[in-house]
Amino acid sequence: MVERNHPLCRAHYLLRLRLPADFPATAPGQFIQLACRRPDGAQTSEVVLAHDLEWEPGKAIAFQQPELLGPLALLRRPFSLAGRGDDERGPWVEIVHRVVGVGTQWLSRLKVGDSVDLIGPLGNRFQLPKDRSLGLLVGGGVGLPPMFYLAQALQAAGWQAVAFVGAQARDLLPVNLDSSVPPATDGQPALSVQEFARYGLVTVITTDDGSLGLKGLITEGLTRFLKTLSPAQRQQAVVFTCGPNGMMRATASLAAAHGVDCQVCMEQAMACGMGTCQSCVVRVEDAANPQDRTADGRPWRYRLTCTDGPVFDARQIVWE
Ligand SMILES: Cc1cc2nc3c(=O)[nH]c(=O)nc-3n(C[C@H](O)[C@H](O)[C@H](O)COP(=O)(O)OP(=O)(O)OC[C@H]3O[C@@H](n4cnc5c(N)ncnc54)[C@H](O)[C@@H]3O)c2cc1C
Ligand code: FES
Repeated sequence: MVERNHPLCRAHYLLRLRLPADFPATAPGQFIQLACRRPDGAQTSEVVLAHDLEWEPGKAIAFQQPELLGPLALLRRPFSLAGRGDDERGPWVEIVHRVVGVGTQWLSRLKVGDSVDLIGPLGNRFQLPKDRSLGLLVGGGVGLPPMFYLAQALQAAGWQAVAFVGAQARDLLPVNLDSSVPPATDGQPALSVQEFARYGLVTVITTDDGSLGLKGLITEGLTRFLKTLSPAQRQQAVVFTCGPNGMMRATASLAAAHGVDCQVCMEQAMACGMGTCQSCVVRVEDAANPQDRTADGRPWRYRLTCTDGPVFDARQIVWE
């Protein structure tokens, strides 16, 4: 049941769903598969098949079913968990979605009290190694939601953490800003983003066009921060990242150059979300499969983002 659905910026919505009491435990990195259409069957392919088409020989078919008159998201759509809570009324989860097509447009029109059909939680989770205590959360655009949930978990685990938030421009940032703490233009971390500040995390904001925070790519903010860390602090650190593949690849390479471990949350396009359709493959290094090798000789095999991931050790990914 929809409890909240409101815009965070020009393109993103925050959707909070109240769930049945027995909804399983969840963890940051995991995702849900949402049916982006009415759950009562009024907009499903079964309905299309159940109706006889009105057709007379020699005449055009008179389509009347709404499914055939407009676009419809037949497959479920995957969304990372942006937060989870349990209170006196039961569990809830939040997602933050960017309106890009038919399914997310449908989600953006949901009203409080509407019902939604979902499957989850799915996939694996970010790992918090016991011998580490400094989290560097790097989220670009629509890759930010899993970072909100991770911030909650890091605070609970007693880690120190800094968030790096990147977008093309200020009006595409899916966050609530604290108007009393303006983000620094020189990359100094500040408590400017409420989604992170509520868990004690300072944030470095970068925008490509310089309309907010530091001007440049998210890796610019991360580079400046990594340079301030001592070798001992780097050993304590883990970079967690989610966003466009190019951004994650650059982040992973930066982390490696500074000797910092990195976990990436891959968002390959998916269909089933549960290991059946094989549509979400990613190439991952695997010494046990010597017959398939990259151009520079590294053995690899396909892994499924939905069931083997979406979180992987960045060193294992063979970037396309
Ligand atoms: C594990 C996972 C977690 C995700 N988490 C989030 C999230 O938290 N918030 C969010 O807004 N989105 C997230 N996505 C992406 C989201 O699933 C898609 O944006 C969504 O399915 C689009 O549905 P649509 O019907 O609106 O768009 P469609 O009409 O299906 O497509 C519109 C356009 O978006 C492109 N597109 C669709 N899926 C992807 C994708 N995965 N990557 C890049 N381009 C895509 C299509 O190629 C097309 O150009 C996640 C994807 C995965 C795999
Ligand atoms: S989405 Fe179908 S196998 Fe991964």
